[in-house]
Amino acid sequence: MTPPTLEVAAGPLTFQNPIVLAAGTAAYGRELADVMDLERLGGLVTKAVSLEPRSGAAAPRVTDFDGGMINAVGLANPGVDAVLAEDLPWLAAHVRAPRVLVNVVGREAAEFGAVVARLDGATGFQAYELNVSCPNVRQGGLEFGADRDALTAVVQGARAATRRPLFVKLSPTLPQLADAARTAVDAGADGISVINTIPGLVVDVARRRPVLGFGSGGVSGPGLLAVGVLATWKVRQAVSVPILGVGGVQHATDVLQYMIAGASAVGVGTAALVDPKLPARLARELATWCEANGVARLADLVGTLEWPR
Ligand SMILES: Cc1cc2nc3c(=O)[nH]c(=O)nc-3n(C[C@H](O)[C@H](O)[C@H](O)COP(=O)(O)O)c2cc1C
Repeated sequence: MTPPTLEVAAGPLTFQNPIVLAAGTAAYGRELADVMDLERLGGLVTKAVSLEPRSGAAAPRVTDFDGGMINAVGLANPGVDAVLAEDLPWLAAHVRAPRVLVNVVGREAAEFGAVVARLDGATGFQAYELNVSCPNVRQGGLEFGADRDALTAVVQGARAATRRPLFVKLSPTLPQLADAARTAVDAGADGISVINTIPGLVVDVARRRPVLGFGSGGVSGPGLLAVGVLATWKVRQAVSVPILGVGGVQHATDVLQYMIAGASAVGVGTAALVDPKLPARLARELATWCEANGVARLADLVGTLEWPR
């Protein structure tokens, strides 16, 4: 039997396999080159990039707990000029097969388009992921994804600045997730990423203070799997653009759950921080699973979920 093909298409992007390093957990790629073989990945999403450098939240920024991990990094990043000068040239020179998406963040709607406009002449990446799960300072901290007008402004601003594919990353806490996905697509998004972290608090009982320097943070890790798979399914029902499913992936069967629910590619974050060899192993395990189950093309599984009647 010929080996199964793991290649998946997400609109105009083709990934050699569906495994993508999730935003914020791969830095800008080169930080991981010593601990993982990046060429085995389907893709990687960079850490957030904002117009100005951001120093981020007070330490400690990350802690683990039985349910997974919580972080308040505060979207620390060196700013778009440093990413243009240092990180994208490295990606252009060293990353061949994986597709690279640059994660973009802003404090106000116009910042997203401004960052995309600054980046768009550069090489080293193929697409953008707009992180609209962050607070909009102009609207008292309400996240962009939660407000139809702000979401439209973010996506339209970015759309006007590039022809590269735009993925919009939504939070599972949005009460109207399907509506937000539709709004993003109507404004020009080519894909939807779900999910970002969910808000949480871990208390240091002895000190009666939050463990994280910022106070609350975003929960990631295994507990997010079922939340992310449902979000993927909801988005699949609402729009027909490709979905990047993210949240809680640890096993090849987790990747398959996302794909069956409708994701074309699947992000791995926390579990890859714990074990940098995991992403390459997941790709191998997917091939083994396909062989064992007579699946010639992994992509054929996308969106095949049968909902109980
Ligand atoms: C330390 C850390 C930093 C993150 N930074 C970003 C970021 O910059 N932009 C973004 O859209 N998501 C960011 N995320 C969210 C992840 O991309 C992902 O959506 C989330 O962690 C769920 O996946 P996981 O359970 O596999 O970690 C971050 C997550 C972690 C743990």
